[in-house]
Amino acid sequence: MGELKRVVVVGAGTMGSQIALQTALSGKYDVTLVDSVHGQLERAKAQNQRLVDRSVEKSRLTAEQAKAAMEHIRASDSLAGPAGDAAIVIEAVIEDFDAKKEVFRELGKHAAKDAILTSNSSTIAISRLADHSGRPERCCNTHFFHPVTVMQLCEVARGPRTSDQTVADAMDFVRSIDRTPVLLRKEIWGFIVNRILFAASEEAIRLLEGGYASAEDIDIAVQKGLNWPMGPFHLLDFSGLDIFYGAMKDRHRQGEGSDAPPVLDKLIKDGKLGRKTGEGFFKY
Ligand SMILES: NC(=O)c1ccc[n+]([C@@H]2O[C@H](COP(=O)([O-])OP(=O)(O)OC[C@H]3O[C@@H](n4cnc5c(N)ncnc54)[C@H](O)[C@@H]3O)[C@@H](O)[C@H]2O)c1
Repeated sequence: MGELKRVVVVGAGTMGSQIALQTALSGKYDVTLVDSVHGQLERAKAQNQRLVDRSVEKSRLTAEQAKAAMEHIRASDSLAGPAGDAAIVIEAVIEDFDAKKEVFRELGKHAAKDAILTSNSSTIAISRLADHSGRPERCCNTHFFHPVTVMQLCEVARGPRTSDQTVADAMDFVRSIDRTPVLLRKEIWGFIVNRILFAASEEAIRLLEGGYASAEDIDIAVQKGLNWPMGPFHLLDFSGLDIFYGAMKDRHRQGEGSDAPPVLDKLIKDGKLGRKTGEGFFKY
């Protein structure tokens, strides 16, 4: 991966903008951030500027590093041009199969022949997208965690047709931007972390619904007894209940796990989606 120079990130939302920033902060790449929605690229730039300013204030970055990183992120409303000389393209558009499929189809037309094409999807396995690019051997999932500049992990998941070289290149890329890759050797819904998180979250909700303990006490138990930095209910509120709900429904549709529990149905129906709406399992 010595000559890897350009990285294209498609989707400048929460994750894409931060993946672009983390990549630029490594000092090793020029990044092009692509978004199709008017105004989103400016919002992403402003958000990233706030993130680096805060890091400078806290002496985690020098002003020069922050400036250099921001200068190494370009914006584009089309992937066609930038993808042509990218060594890796990371898709981070909305969690919608058709939108992602279309990105992979476009990448098949425009990306350099040896580029790695990855998806940041939390729930859509690369095997469902890779064929649309016409080069499934160069595709895999690279699942980063929010917030990318803080969370070290990236799950690299190979599909049935991903080549060993692509896996090695993707793992090298993740290391090169100072994140820690782990490899999921075979596809499974939720990769590693979300499977374990879902098991714990569902059990917490079962205990709450069964009247065994309050959300507060379940969180305290998990924090103080398992040393998690945050209990499952605070974590669900922080991540957004709609995200968890959508993922549970998707998993159930794919024939795995149980359907969303009634307590979650009700919170979603009432528009209580967690911190972002001021209320979820807790009030903020
Ligand atoms: N938010 C999280 O905590 C998190 C964590 C890990 C993985 N993910 C995954 O990352 C992906 C992105 O999630 P997010 O939270 O950043 O979503 P988001 O809604 O914040 O951002 C998605 C962006 O994609 C853009 N977009 C939509 N269609 C596009 C297209 N065709 N071309 C270019 N841009 C397009 C939208 O304008 C938006 O800016 C999803 O697949 C999600 O599953 C999210």
